[in-house]
Amino acid sequence: RMNVRKITTSSQALDGLLGGGIETRTMTEFFGEFGSGKTQICHQISVNVQLPPEKGGLSGKAVYIDTEGTFRWERIEAMAKAAGLDPDTAMDNIYYMRAINSDHQIAIGDDLQEFIAKNPSVKVVIVDSVTSHFRAEYTGRENLAARQQKLNKHLHQLTRLAEIYDLAVIITNQVMARPDMFYGDPTVAVGGHTLYHVPGIRVQLKKSRGNKRIARIVDAPHLPEGEVVFAITEEGIRD
Ligand code: GTP
Ligand code: MG
Repeated sequence: RMNVRKITTSSQALDGLLGGGIETRTMTEFFGEFGSGKTQICHQISVNVQLPPEKGGLSGKAVYIDTEGTFRWERIEAMAKAAGLDPDTAMDNIYYMRAINSDHQIAIGDDLQEFIAKNPSVKVVIVDSVTSHFRAEYTGRENLAARQQKLNKHLHQLTRLAEIYDLAVIITNQVMARPDMFYGDPTVAVGGHTLYHVPGIRVQLKKSRGNKRIARIVDAPHLPEGEVVFAITEEGIRD
């Protein structure tokens, strides 16, 4: 695990859970129910990657692949201001790509290696959400194998990028809340199917009171166990 670098989440608690922040050379998955904070964390990281190392960033740029149309430039502006960055520069440093269906998402993935080779300052690639198009398009048991295969290929491609270019990959995955969510098998998602198994760090998010959210790491023996609480504020992710 040499030469791994970290990007702060702007929450000390969440950074602590992640062993210092979001790691380069790794794919980090945030999964949880609607409103659990996945998209807000993605926005925050696309800003924070731009911070200088002494402030928890990598002085880098972000690629943001939006599959659900929930990206908001105004949110980037607010988070950048709060982080002490010039908002216009911060927005310029985010390469926004809207994926309209799963084939388009895969095509964007195919082009990323060349794009990042030309833009080596990209230090994070975000896919929010990685699963929504696949879920919507490949419905029914008979299509499950095809969905798995396409999704796995996409995820392995992203993982390779992380390793080759020393960048962080962040993916999100909406998973419905269930009473046993924190205690049952977290790889079993909506419908009871195992989604995929790829190397990386998986973070489960859960709603709590008001703007508080709970995060927990799943399946990572090298990271501390337990849950932490963070908040979603006007300034962004905070303790
Ligand atoms: P899905 O994509 O629906 O699965 O949800 P998600 O996990 O991506 O949730 P998201 O990150 O969109 O979190 C939504 C929560 O963030 C909302 O319930 C709000 O509480 C909070 N939020 C979103 N935008 C703002 C904002 O501009 N200001 C503040 N203070 N909070 C916000
Ligand atoms: Mg979202």
